Amino acid sequence: MTEELEVIDPQERFLELFKTEKYRQRISQLAVTGKTSLIVEFEDILTFDPKLADELLEKPEEYIDRHASNAAYQQLAIEDAEYAKKVEKVSVRIVGLLEATPLRKLGAANIGKLVMVEGIVVRSTPVRPMVMRASFKCKRCGELTFIDQSGPFLRAPFQCRSPQCGSKGPFEFVQEESKFIDSQDLRVQERPEDLPPGQLPRTLHVKLVGDEIVDVARPGDHVSIVGIVRAVAPTMPKIGKLRTFVLHLDANSIEVLGKEPEAPLPLPEEEEKILELAKDPWIHRKIINSIAPSIYGYEHIKEAIMYLLFGGVSKTLPDITIRGDLNVLLIGDPGTAKSQLLQYVARVAPRGLYTSGRGTTAAGLTAAVIREKGGGMSLEAGALVLADKGIACIDEMDKMRPEDRVAIHEAMEQHTVSVAKGGIVATLNARTAILAAANPTLGRYEPHRSIAENISLPITILSRFDLIFVLRDIPNKEIDSKMAEHILEIHKKGLSPIEPPIPPDLLRKYISYAKGIKPVLTQEALRRLNDFYLAMRSASEVEGSPVAITARQLESLVRIAEARARAALRKEVLAEDAEAAIAIMKRSLEEVGIDLSSYKIDIDLIMTGKSKTMRDKLQIILSTLLEMEKETGTVEKAALLNELEEKYKISRAEIERLIKQLLREGTIYEPREGYLKKT
Ligand SMILES: Nc1ncnc2c1ncn2[C@@H]1O[C@H](COP(=O)(O)OP(=O)(O)OP(=O)(O)O)[C@@H](O)[C@H]1O
Ligand SMILES: [Mg+2]
Ligand SMILES: [Zn+2]
Repeated sequence: MTEELEVIDPQERFLELFKTEKYRQRISQLAVTGKTSLIVEFEDILTFDPKLADELLEKPEEYIDRHASNAAYQQLAIEDAEYAKKVEKVSVRIVGLLEATPLRKLGAANIGKLVMVEGIVVRSTPVRPMVMRASFKCKRCGELTFIDQSGPFLRAPFQCRSPQCGSKGPFEFVQEESKFIDSQDLRVQERPEDLPPGQLPRTLHVKLVGDEIVDVARPGDHVSIVGIVRAVAPTMPKIGKLRTFVLHLDANSIEVLGKEPEAPLPLPEEEEKILELAKDPWIHRKIINSIAPSIYGYEHIKEAIMYLLFGGVSKTLPDITIRGDLNVLLIGDPGTAKSQLLQYVARVAPRGLYTSGRGTTAAGLTAAVIREKGGGMSLEAGALVLADKGIACIDEMDKMRPEDRVAIHEAMEQHTVSVAKGGIVATLNARTAILAAANPTLGRYEPHRSIAENISLPITILSRFDLIFVLRDIPNKEIDSKMAEHILEIHKKGLSPIEPPIPPDLLRKYISYAKGIKPVLTQEALRRLNDFYLAMRSASEVEGSPVAITARQLESLVRIAEARARAALRKEVLAEDAEAAIAIMKRSLEEVGIDLSSYKIDIDLIMTGKSKTMRDKLQIILSTLLEMEKETGTVEKAALLNELEEKYKISRAEIERLIKQLLREGTIYEPREGYLKKT
């Protein structure tokens, strides 16, 4: 056995490294910027002295906090003696270890070692001061005793420092004489793209200490953290410490990574395949047929999913930004393969995330301020923040938390989530495309009712979807038998009867590749969209007729057309893209119950289920009710009916119906049988 060579005088070796041009410059820069952290690339140590690098990984405490830190300070004293005197210490922060350790591989073997982990920050506490050196005043003699602190609890002196006194207390903590440092706790989770299929993501607790590493990352950020793995035994009150330890990371450095999904450049032969595919005049058809081939039918929904996967181009103007991502909603009867479609998309999208409306954590879909066990508050990112720059597939969206119902408006249009609660104020990014599914309120979709009546989501949320489709389970002999054949075939073979023309792996790479293209609208495409928009608008210009189509739909059309150009890897949005966008938009509007042939689209009717005349009547009912409330407080229903019938000549049956609707919406309520009141 060969004797392991010790590094002779590691501090001396580090000093040599820090005397190289690069590090001399960095060190002298510290005084200029007023910082105390020296960033050191691991690779520099490795090329300088592989043995030193090895030891650093094995004994990080000794090598970083003592040897490297002392050497850096020594060099600082040479570069700027005055500043060195002022700062007392230089913190060496190592970045860029050769490889990241997957969170799920961290274990006993890593305890005490230096590792690098990558993940998403899911939770963060506010920055809190932590006492490093505590000062205690003896209540007997007034002498101050200083205790260097470590571990989670504040340690008081055992005995007074004064030899004359030597009393065992009591002591009083003196804040002004103690030394504090900023600290913050994070929870880091495996990135969706690192997750083995079907596994729940693991998380790791990370402690940050030092004002140059706290407050660097926010929930939703992708980070790379270098730190020392620690194991602590949780304490059970009255019982003692447990034998199984919990791992956490004491961070040495933290870097926020680029938010773009990892899109490793395709290999030359892959790129060739991708470009070859794009040349196919039937490329859109091919992609549609490759989306969830085991699911029978739903061509138009798969087409919408294609647009969603590729997405439009987001525009950042000096004053506003306009999202490029699409939001698609599927409303459907039970058992119509909605969940299956969503799960498929979450798998194939370069950064896809599947969640139910309730969310999988306390943070739900947007974000939440959580009270920690220890009593502190922390900010936790919900699904949309975690899916930043990806696709969030939200199943059972109608069942989201009430808090999310409010916050999701901002997330869906502005692509941010703002939180101001429990002393935490933050705005997180949520730049995601959304594919949502929901069941009809009444169990089954009722085509003669409006979409707003069919789904328990407010119109303000519905209007943020670019496309809405209805999946209905209607018995149809021909389709049923074909579908049965299709499903039974799958069960028999355990394979899809239709081979996807593009295998999922290649499709994912194709999408990543396409995302790099920013197609621009051609004059011809612009004209088509404009014509359609104006035609729809003018159909409603007639006095008193409802607003047909709004600017939101125009923006949706642009996004869809851009996505279609992208799917063919084209830099230009052609007339055919505009036509396809118009066609699918029409289809979506028709599905939600509008007869386009008459050109009388009434978005109000679609979304709220109230035509203008009906809204007028509802208005009359409400104002009459309010008028009568002034006199009697609560209003007798019978009296209201009489008043309305006499004054406005609305039929009793209609009034009854409208009142029922107002009750259902919660605009008015029944404080007791036969009486009404505005909410
Ligand atoms: N068009 C279809 N092609 C192939 N399989 C289908 C189709 N429609 C439904 N199925 C099958 O029916 C089953 C139920 O589908 P799924 O769970 O996705 O329904 P769902 O729409 O999410 O229902 P729910 O609203 O109750 O959640 C799945 O196993 C799915 O494969
Ligand atoms: Mg489902
Ligand atoms: Zn004393």
